[in-house]
Amino acid sequence: MLNHAKAALFTLASLLCLTTSYVTNAEDSYTDANLEQVESTHLYLDLFVNFDEKRLEGFVEHTLEWSDKAKPKLVVDTRDLVIKSTYALLNGQWRSAKFELGKVHPVKGAPLTIYLPGAAEKVRIHYHSTPKASGLQWLTKAQTAGKQYPFMFSQSQAIHARSWIPVQDTPAMRVTYSARIATPKPLLAVMSADNSANTEKDGDYHFSMPQAIPPYLIAIGVGDLEYKAMSKQTAIYAESYILDDAVAEFNDTQEMMDQTTNIYGDYAWGRYDLLVLPPSFPFGGMENPRLSFITPTVIAGDKSLVNLIAHELAHSWSGNLVTNATWEDLWLNEGFTSYVENRIMEEVFGEDRAVMEQALAADSLNGDLASLDKDDTRLKLSLNGRDPDVSFSEIPYVKGQLFLIYLEQKFGRDKFDPFVKQYFDDYAFLSLTTKDFVKYVKKHLTHKYPGIVSDEKLQEWIFGTGLPADAPQPKSDAFKKVKQSQHAWLEGKAELSSLSTEKWTVHEWLYFINELPRNLSEEHMLQLDQSFNLTNSKNAEIAFAWFNLAIENGYQAINPKLDQYLSSIGRGKLIVPLYKRLSEGEKRAWAHEVYKKARPGYHPLAQSRIDPFFK
Ligand code: BES
Ligand code: ZN
Repeated sequence: MLNHAKAALFTLASLLCLTTSYVTNAEDSYTDANLEQVESTHLYLDLFVNFDEKRLEGFVEHTLEWSDKAKPKLVVDTRDLVIKSTYALLNGQWRSAKFELGKVHPVKGAPLTIYLPGAAEKVRIHYHSTPKASGLQWLTKAQTAGKQYPFMFSQSQAIHARSWIPVQDTPAMRVTYSARIATPKPLLAVMSADNSANTEKDGDYHFSMPQAIPPYLIAIGVGDLEYKAMSKQTAIYAESYILDDAVAEFNDTQEMMDQTTNIYGDYAWGRYDLLVLPPSFPFGGMENPRLSFITPTVIAGDKSLVNLIAHELAHSWSGNLVTNATWEDLWLNEGFTSYVENRIMEEVFGEDRAVMEQALAADSLNGDLASLDKDDTRLKLSLNGRDPDVSFSEIPYVKGQLFLIYLEQKFGRDKFDPFVKQYFDDYAFLSLTTKDFVKYVKKHLTHKYPGIVSDEKLQEWIFGTGLPADAPQPKSDAFKKVKQSQHAWLEGKAELSSLSTEKWTVHEWLYFINELPRNLSEEHMLQLDQSFNLTNSKNAEIAFAWFNLAIENGYQAINPKLDQYLSSIGRGKLIVPLYKRLSEGEKRAWAHEVYKKARPGYHPLAQSRIDPFFK
């Protein structure tokens, strides 16, 4: 890092009384790791999955590469871990090493410092996680579909790997890893590594991930899982109740991979499998390499929500291969991925659907632009020490996507596609900051073809607030017709039964519902519900849109179904906004009761987002 930046941060850090290790990793303020002295290059995990105690127990072995051997120590990030003992391998001999667990920081957790007698080749840390690990969810038998066996899964992004592995937890570094995982016998363990189809379910599982990945991509799932192949390179792991449905829903995955490879170059990771998690999984999907983690709430029966698969797959290039160096650069992961996701959807499902998905995303971005603090609408975020989870919004995703669509339109795909492909290639297995990207895009695109996009325009998109006035505005012809029908009904010129809704896709329904006024009469709400049975929709996104509308319009007939929905799904995007709206309105007390009942089934990340609404 530049010296003046270091000096400035040092001053800031001393003012805030932070430790010196904070200063040395000033690029990523969410780690205490002393990366400038030593880096782990490989992790070996040896863990027992203890369902009775809800903890992982065992040890992690770090293989170390030293750049400064004076006063050798290793600092790793931890959160809510119990550290038992630490050892160092020096000159072929293991010996005990002294360690110190630092003060707990509310966002970062506690740094673990291991004082070493020399520049050790390896360090072992014996530890166990605790039931409150923010990056793990432990489901009892009763909380699973099969009711026979418990389930456990990890979610490490952004800074939760440290709640189950003592690790240098920053996306600025990469490790390879291997693991030995012991589980109760009939259960299967899978990881973001080389899962193999024919593993015997003997409770002893071995993994290896030979490609270097940032720690937030280390992942594990353990449960009563079955395997079914979809194509040579793709398969599903899921509980048996949903395995066949998942295969039917996601069987375009290979086609998606092939199309992405055509535009952006080789898929770097060998296999691409999907793990379908219990409905309490707090995200839609998580791009764990070789094995994306997927919510079952997108299994709609009609492939209407499979853009999620395109999204997680796209991360195999943007995010997993080319990685944001800090969480303030998240748009480099999510903006590029949203852009590539939509390109995949266009290739596999056609332009009309791709444009509808763009338009829905742009509407949702506009909602966030209206409600967020202006300073939080920049692509390059300023988290200022806040928890990265809390500042999560559509900005990195959709503003990032619109910026890339803007560049695509300005330069044309014949120039833009090769640029992106080259970028993925030049930064493969590396991390970069927004500043690095600006330099790169100037050199390889905007200055290479001058007079098309100015430096000021780049600056405005990346560092400015809101949306530039000439930002792309995706327009769908299908949506235009939906809007006309809606107007005719609202103005009393047409009956609902006369609107040609039979052929509407899920996307048209979503647009229709989202565009409805928030002050509809009870009569209008009833008409909609009776004509289209929206309260009983089995599509999780349609139900979400309808519940939002119903809550805002004070339409009570949804209550039993809404209760059921909130109690059976834990995906943040679908439940957090509903709880927020409910907690601000007249149904607050009712919602609090629902929440008290549902909370034990939610992931710690979902709990910590919803708890504040009922404080
Ligand atoms: N990597 C993200 C999930 C994530 C982001 C977790 C930041 C923690 C911090 C994943 O790829 C994602 O974006 N999921 C979306 C998918 C959607 C945009 C299609 C989701 O979960 O809804
Ligand atoms: Zn993503």
